[in-house]
Amino acid sequence: MVISKQKNILALVGSNHINGFTRNIIQLLKDNLHARNENIDFQIIDTTEIDINVCRGCNTCFEKGLCPLDRQDDMGQLKAMLDNADVIILACPVYLMHVSSPMKILLDRLSYWCHLLKLRNKLLVTVITTSRSGANETNNYLKYIGSGMGLLPISEIIFTHSSDIDELIHKINKSAYIINQYLIEKKEIHSNQFLEETFAIEKLDKSLQLDSSFEKQYWQSHGLFNCSSFEDVLSLEKERKK
Ligand SMILES: Cc1cc2nc3c(=O)[nH]c(=O)nc-3n(C[C@H](O)[C@H](O)[C@H](O)COP(=O)(O)O)c2cc1C
Repeated sequence: MVISKQKNILALVGSNHINGFTRNIIQLLKDNLHARNENIDFQIIDTTEIDINVCRGCNTCFEKGLCPLDRQDDMGQLKAMLDNADVIILACPVYLMHVSSPMKILLDRLSYWCHLLKLRNKLLVTVITTSRSGANETNNYLKYIGSGMGLLPISEIIFTHSSDIDELIHKINKSAYIINQYLIEKKEIHSNQFLEETFAIEKLDKSLQLDSSFEKQYWQSHGLFNCSSFEDVLSLEKERKK
């Protein structure tokens, strides 16, 4: 008998409004997925309920791959949860045409992961709510930085207050269907053009660094220099997971 590993979804909700639109949409997505498959672990983290300090700009993360603040707040634990997730959902209301400040504070602390493609072989879903404007800007930003960390965007839910409730339910349903295809029906993950370009730029940058640099050593020890494309990286990670 083959026992497959439980699949993990981690949703980060960047709203300051505890029971707001964004949180409720995530709950509906969770319920929809559990109706399809009870064996999916779906954890929701509200940024209002965790303690994440503002980045101090010391650059230790880029230089040494660790953040001195991780021992003082919840970030170390959150990083472990992100590491363990198969799907990461970034859910955020639009604040002043962009992501909310708690979401930005959290993402700033992960900036150095863009140099390591740390979240390669994981999937990204974005959820954006807005009263009227800024949804595309915010969504594109989250997909851009998520892809920079190696995530593959597979689905998005955009809700504006004027949206029809049936339209929202349709989007949630579609998103749950897509997530289920990858997690349960084992749809293959493939690269896209943005990830290929990101990989090529990062690989060149790391190859030019000093041998003593943390980032170069990370790329070497994780076999990333041996890959000629991001598609190769995905195959490597798939082999590792077996
Ligand atoms: C500080 C703040 C800034 C906002 N900025 C915008 C904005 O630029 N454009 C817009 O259409 N709605 C804006 N909104 C409205 C929210 O995006 C919208 O109400 C969203 O659905 C709130 O989600 P929540 O209920 O999960 O907190 C803003 C709301 C707040 C609190």
